[in-house]
Amino acid sequence: MKIDSFTVLAEQAADDPAIEALHETAFGPGRFARAASILREGVPHDPELSFVAKSGLDLVGSVRLTPIRIGAKPALLLGPLAVVNSWKGRGAGKSLMRTALAAATEAGHQLVLLVGDEPYYGPFGFQRVAPYQVTLPAPADPARILVCPLVQGAMEGLGGVVTRRA
Ligand SMILES: CC(C)(COP(=O)(O)OP(=O)(O)OC[C@H]1O[C@@H](n2cnc3c(N)ncnc32)[C@H](O)[C@@H]1OP(=O)(O)O)[C@@H](O)C(=O)NCCC(=O)NCCS
Repeated sequence: MKIDSFTVLAEQAADDPAIEALHETAFGPGRFARAASILREGVPHDPELSFVAKSGLDLVGSVRLTPIRIGAKPALLLGPLAVVNSWKGRGAGKSLMRTALAAATEAGHQLVLLVGDEPYYGPFGFQRVAPYQVTLPAPADPARILVCPLVQGAMEGLGGVVTRRA
């Protein structure tokens, strides 16, 4: 029987193979060279802040948050966010985004950074940083470097090199 709805759940270790397969399909082998991937190298995503969407036992989508620093400020890197092709446009991406950002806020985090499309992420509170305000470990289109403050004042004095945070 085909189930037509999905549920957002905390990511479990057992979800990993399906998530890796989704990333391979969504982003291809070139994904490892991207600035965001480099920031995730050797740093585990935060399991408390990473979520899957599932329909029955099937993975529908995934979002992960990983600790980083922007200059001296602790922050989170959002991504990858990916949804299985046959489920696109049915709200899974937005549900995963809302859940991850609410969990990050609840846990007391102040800032989330991602590299992505402003038209999609803007409605969640993401905004462009000024040119050269932040430096990533690999080239990225400045128009796609987006930051979301989770608390008032989080953007004050924001800037610098984005680095891994263990
Ligand atoms: C981007 C992605 C996660 C969106 O997930 P989704 O479940 O399909 O999205 P939702 O159903 O929650 O939202 C659909 C809406 O987002 C819009 N949208 C989807 N991708 C978009 C994009 N890249 N830019 C702007 N809007 C986008 C759709 O047009 C739709 O708009 P509508 O609500 O006005 O009809 C999904 O398309 C995906 O996995 N893409 C490939 C991987 C990827 O690019 N990830 C993001 C990396 S930055």
